[in-house]
Amino acid sequence: MSAQPPSLGPTSDNVFPHAGELTREERSRLLANCAGPRRGCTLWLTGLSGSGKSTIASALEAVLMRRGVAAYRLDGDTLRTGLNAGLGFAPADRSENIRRIAEVAKLFADAGLVAIASAISPFRADRDAARRTHEDAGLSFFEVFVDTPLEVCEARDPKGLYKKARSGQLPGFTGIDSPYEAPLRAELVLRSGHDAIDACVAACLDTLQRASVI
Ligand code: ADX
Repeated sequence: MSAQPPSLGPTSDNVFPHAGELTREERSRLLANCAGPRRGCTLWLTGLSGSGKSTIASALEAVLMRRGVAAYRLDGDTLRTGLNAGLGFAPADRSENIRRIAEVAKLFADAGLVAIASAISPFRADRDAARRTHEDAGLSFFEVFVDTPLEVCEARDPKGLYKKARSGQLPGFTGIDSPYEAPLRAELVLRSGHDAIDACVAACLDTLQRASVI
């Protein structure tokens, strides 16, 4: 963890928990019919802010649950309002954020669910460490690169943060003045700038099927 207090924050002003498609009630009802995956695993969505990670994660979670496969989302924005509330956006804070999400995902996977993590996770080393954490525990880890070009993310700007970053109100914003290191060996690359959400979800399901997880 960073020895310094988070310098690129505060976090709570610019994070937006994604409610997801399933209500808690619907989740409980569906859980009664869930057989779970054949084995727990983690699907890790990485990509720029506005790339579509949370939307894809939410749709995927709903499709899996409705098929009787227990799944749960761990979204960067949501975790930053609780477990990771003290962390900002300096590199050391982001690394700690990813380490914690990976540890929680590992527990969910160990519990026999499909953990769907979605966080920018801009640094290759942190994602590789998340993978190692899983593999050392004998759990499958699928890195999914939500490869939406910066121009598309910026045009979408669902939270108005690119505008803020361009005007200098949000220093250290990923893709603008903080780096994003694209995956080199992702199990799956999604082009949510081109492909519909349903196609992205289908590709995730296919990846899980090929690996005999579902
Ligand atoms: S990560 O880089 O540590 O993986 P995470 O996915 O948890 O980030 O959180 C990203 C969210 O924080 C973005 O969706 C955005 O709403 C918000 N945010 C606030 N400041 C920044 C920043 N400087 N860079 C990127 N995202 C930021």
